[in-house]
Amino acid sequence: MCETPTVHDFGSHEKLLVVDFGGQYTQLIARKVREQNVYAKIVAWDDPGLGEEWRSAKAVILSGGPKSVTDENAPTLDPHLLNNGLPVLGICYGQQLMAHLLGGRVHKVLHREYGRQLVKPSPKAALLASEGQVWMSHGDSVDAVPPGFEVVASTEGCSVAAIQNTEARKFGVQFHPEVTHTERGIEILRKFLFEQAKFAGDWTAGNFVEEAVASLREQVGEGKVLCGVSGGVDSTVAAALLAKAIGDRLLCVFVDHGLMRKNEAAQVVADFAAHIPAKLIAYDASQQFFDALSGVTDPEQKRKIIGAEFVRVFEQHADELKGCDFLAQGTLYPDVIESGSKTAETIKTHHNVGGLPDWMRLKLVEPLRWLFKDEVRAVGRELGLPKEMLEREPFPGPGLAVRIVGEVTRERVRIVQDADYIWREELYRAGLSAVPPSGYSGPQSPAVSPKAQVWQSYAALLDVQSVGVMGDSRTYAHPIVLRAVASEDAMTAHAVAVPFEVLDRAATRIVNEVKGVNRVLYDVTSKPPATIELE
Ligand code: XMP
Repeated sequence: MCETPTVHDFGSHEKLLVVDFGGQYTQLIARKVREQNVYAKIVAWDDPGLGEEWRSAKAVILSGGPKSVTDENAPTLDPHLLNNGLPVLGICYGQQLMAHLLGGRVHKVLHREYGRQLVKPSPKAALLASEGQVWMSHGDSVDAVPPGFEVVASTEGCSVAAIQNTEARKFGVQFHPEVTHTERGIEILRKFLFEQAKFAGDWTAGNFVEEAVASLREQVGEGKVLCGVSGGVDSTVAAALLAKAIGDRLLCVFVDHGLMRKNEAAQVVADFAAHIPAKLIAYDASQQFFDALSGVTDPEQKRKIIGAEFVRVFEQHADELKGCDFLAQGTLYPDVIESGSKTAETIKTHHNVGGLPDWMRLKLVEPLRWLFKDEVRAVGRELGLPKEMLEREPFPGPGLAVRIVGEVTRERVRIVQDADYIWREELYRAGLSAVPPSGYSGPQSPAVSPKAQVWQSYAALLDVQSVGVMGDSRTYAHPIVLRAVASEDAMTAHAVAVPFEVLDRAATRIVNEVKGVNRVLYDVTSKPPATIELE
């Protein structure tokens, strides 16, 4: 096992504690708070360290949760914590629990309230300035408020939509201010954070960089760090942060498995050299990956082979790489929150690197451990990294191998690379994609609202053939599948309604310019039931 890294959680910042009762929006609460420049930390209700976290916080938000406060073994809190004077905002289950623990009463409602509702606040409501749509999702409701509290808002189906005790600085809302469907949700959070809890708003990317650099220097001391880079946003920002902290004691390694998109491997190396002041060793290991994948068609088998081959490359270069004391990992805050809490079925083996050789079982350093993805990008901007490096679409570790149904060969990779380049070039030219394909030198994309842009797009190759006609000749060749999805977190996704003329242009170019393709299909399936990648 690798040694667990030193825990550094930005104790010098004013902290908002989010107590997690298992609510589906808990991460969202923390993200929305951080977007207001307030450092938010999520701690589970039954974490033994909760009391200490509470005492070192400036304010607390109690999350939603799936239980009823009156259920046996329902998640709860030590009521003393609620009396220690900190401002507290209870959301949904959080409001009910606060009411329950402070002497109010909670009951099951006859009809679950779910969806948008119009909330009407009273003039006294400290957090709600005016009426507006809110997002409700609950089966219980407060029906008697605790002593000292008053009801300050209602909806048609819920007479206690918000409660408060301004003297004790305790507030509750039955709806979810953190979701975008609640029109003035951010205003509610801001009123709580800045008017009631008096946060200064000291959580910025600049402060994070300064503190992370100091913390990394302390953790690493005079040691050396090995950092694998893939060209992805996380490993790029982790490397840039480490380079700033420890300079030439950082050794970065890029393994080119031959399964990157067109021109991409060269661009990763060039961008790194231009923007990150650290040593990068790039290994062209493509031949050994193709050899290992030869004849393999099973998706899981491909993933396992690629994971194992990565490790083999590190083993082959052990002499050059040994001597490092730490291994950098791009763990993000959502991974930290979720680790250990999932027993989900494996849909795909999502690891990129299999078991590590002994000499690589180093102490871990995790520079991004406290950041959400948006914050990683903000830190990257702060470190001066260009847009092309920070807004890159997510790309799977096994690369194009999971976009080639059937055997992975150099020729089939070439077909996918060429088709994928054209597809992403057309999306970029139409303003639907923020970043052009590597090596693009045409005109800049017209500005289109980020909302209209795709989250991930690619071309894939199927393992079937169909008949076509080119000139006067019959063709019997492969179809290309185009995909462009909108998503927030890859858990769910839907196909983007790409205008027909863009699809038409891409399809025409692909069959004309890419040898071996005579048909182009657009995948309109959502996730679920499909996944984003084909394999
Ligand atoms: P699926 O296909 O499961 O993909 O809907 C969800 C997201 O994860 C990416 N993906 C991977 N990323 N290693 C990765 O680092 C992998 O093995 C892997 N497989 C899928 C995929 O591109 C999408 O963004």
